Amino acid sequence: MDTLLRVKNLTKVFKVKRGLFRKKPFYALRNVSLEVRKGEILGVVGESGSGKTTLGKVILRLERPTSGEVTFEGRDIFSMGKEYTRMVSVVFQDPRNSLNPRMKVKEIVEEPLLVHGERNRRERVIQAIRRVMLEPELAERKPDDLSGGQRQRVAIARAIVLRPKLIVADEPTASLDVSVQWEILKLFMSLKEEGIAFIFITHDIRVIEKIADRVTVIYGGMVMELGPKGEVLREPLHPYTRFLLSNVPVKHPRERRGTEFEEVEYEIPEEGCPFAPRCPDYREECSFRVRRSEVNGRVVYCNLY
Ligand SMILES: Nc1ncnc2c1ncn2[C@@H]1O[C@H](COP(=O)(O)OP(=O)(O)OP(=O)(O)O)[C@@H](O)[C@H]1O
Ligand SMILES: [Mg+2]
Repeated sequence: MDTLLRVKNLTKVFKVKRGLFRKKPFYALRNVSLEVRKGEILGVVGESGSGKTTLGKVILRLERPTSGEVTFEGRDIFSMGKEYTRMVSVVFQDPRNSLNPRMKVKEIVEEPLLVHGERNRRERVIQAIRRVMLEPELAERKPDDLSGGQRQRVAIARAIVLRPKLIVADEPTASLDVSVQWEILKLFMSLKEEGIAFIFITHDIRVIEKIADRVTVIYGGMVMELGPKGEVLREPLHPYTRFLLSNVPVKHPRERRGTEFEEVEYEIPEEGCPFAPRCPDYREECSFRVRRSEVNGRVVYCNLY
């Protein structure tokens, strides 16, 4: 199996303020290990605050890891130059924030080509715009004059214009109407058919079901379970995966209004399994250690196995 990107024992600690002078370490990611294979869609799923965006940001070099490593085709990404951004691009959740409202669509899509000093920019911009199924006339418009779905297509055109090998997509459909979501997911799948790999971050396990090849379930900054999508969804091993499958979310937490979806806040313990306080299968050792096992080609971090 051809590994494109490998994350090994990645830990990210933020210092968060506690009181006037005290700062407390907060573990946003703990010992995360995973790999993305050439041309696959690796789904990353977990509730709000589980560390998905932080993981994406480290892979995009927008955050430095506290410890651990990330390699791309065997090379440490933090010692690579601009060639890394040629091979790895991003699509964020909300194109209203990620697209410059003062730029025309064609300028937005052209930008990566300019940064990398590419030639034939006009043709390549048109090609990318066509590829994401946008009307070429829209190239002259600005993001505010587009629909949400069209805006996200612009963001995707920008992400593919350099022909990357990997795209990190962080909740790329969460801001869209359900009817548009499916169209955008189909576009991602057709890009995968052309050989682009994806890290597809979502809180919505139904999206994973539709498009991922393999899935990483994370909670409290830790991988709970990782394996082929079909097996993980059909026969979840980790109690947290079972919990996710029985609580299919209604909306992205940030868009929830009122109190009807309010969740109980659980303090994530600093040691042991982060899911321990909520786990129906809790046992004493879970509060101080987590066992890693491989079960039929799946990795599971749980003391049940
Ligand atoms: N710069 C930062 N400083 C301090 N804490 C941070 C910082 N960035 C993220 N965190 C914390 O790290 C945890 C993980 O955040 P992250 O954004 O990665 O979660 P997420 O899984 O993407 O959640 P969501 O589904 O809401 O997008 C959260 O508790 C968050 O408050
Ligand atoms: Mg996030």
